[in-house]
Amino acid sequence: MRNATELLGFIRDEVKEHKETLDPDSPRDFIDAYLLEIEKQKSNEGSTFHEENMVMSTADLFLAGTDTTSTTIRWGLIFLIQNPDVQGAKAKH
Ligand code: HEM
Repeated sequence: MRNATELLGFIRDEVKEHKETLDPDSPRDFIDAYLLEIEKQKSNEGSTFHEENMVMSTADLFLAGTDTTSTTIRWGLIFLIQNPDVQGAKAKH
């Protein structure tokens, strides 16, 4: 729970900074694009584009991408260690 709270705090800080430096003609990333979509959908009462959804969607991408990617890299390293012949260097006899 402590880690989750810290992650959400980090994302909220990022959102604040993105708002302060947003250039509508040049969105830099997911948060910029989402901020512009919130603005675009302002008059649409049923819109799901609002700040809390943006924070949670960003957290989703973080969580979905973190453990998967680090586990994949760890497996890759293990296979490289176990199969040094595929590393390009000629085996020494
Ligand atoms: C090697 C790295 C990754 C692996 C092995 C992986 C694996 C998967 C798998 C198996 C699913 C489907 C789960 C299901 O529907 O049952 C999935 C969905 C998803 N992954 Fe990844 N993923 C990886 C990296 C990432 C990264 C870097 C991100 C975000 C930046 C991400 C975001 C998502 C999201 C948002 C979904 C849900 C998509 C949807 O159903 O609309 N994943 N991933």
